[in-house]
Amino acid sequence: MQLLKDKILNEARVINDTVLLVDTFINHQVDPELMQEIGKTFSAIYKMEGVTKVITIESSGIAPALMTALMLNVPLVIARKQKSITTQDNIYTEKVVSFTKQQTNDVTVAQKLLQASDRVLIIDDFLAHGEAALGLARIVEKSGAKVVGIGIVIEKVFQLGGRKLQDAGYRVDSLARIENMSSGKIIFAEKNPIYASPKL
Ligand code: G4P
Repeated sequence: MQLLKDKILNEARVINDTVLLVDTFINHQVDPELMQEIGKTFSAIYKMEGVTKVITIESSGIAPALMTALMLNVPLVIARKQKSITTQDNIYTEKVVSFTKQQTNDVTVAQKLLQASDRVLIIDDFLAHGEAALGLARIVEKSGAKVVGIGIVIEKVFQLGGRKLQDAGYRVDSLARIENMSSGKIIFAEKNPIYASPKL
């Protein structure tokens, strides 16, 4: 997605070999027009897949996931990382390890929000090691629903989460794929892998 790649090149900052700062357009300040375009793009990719729900984990995935749900005209489910006072007893829970943040979260979703008949699209802002997406996929599958795909805004290809998800049998569509940033310069992957949509 060219608009996203331009934004990354113009505004993102490489913090170190593995971490990209995107706080002016994704996860601190949010660019609504960019999010709208992201939503339109994911919705175009998945429009024939009969998606009935979009799911993400709080917090930075919410903006692109909400725009995608809006464009697909389906509800957005936000998996919680912390139990809130409104958390009910009937929940699906998965432990999700974050390598980037060096912490483990109990990710939860109320059972009433997922039905076995649902066709669910997972959306997240970053794909690093794939743990968040795998945790969400496990929760969706506990309910009997089907994961139709995993839509990622920025995939860091060198951290191999995309490969892990592909090996687990999931379709992955990433709008920007970073192959390398170890020199401080962002290098996008030239080609999409065979599992990604040919339209991107
Ligand atoms: P994984 O899910 O693919 O295994 O990735 P990992 O655990 O390593 O990273 C999880 C968290 O770190 C996510 O935030 C993700 O958005 C964030 N993250 C990963 N790589 C980067 C990066 O290069 N730059 C930035 N800015 N963030 C990155 P989260 O736990 O969902 O928290 P939140 O920030 O959304 O609240």
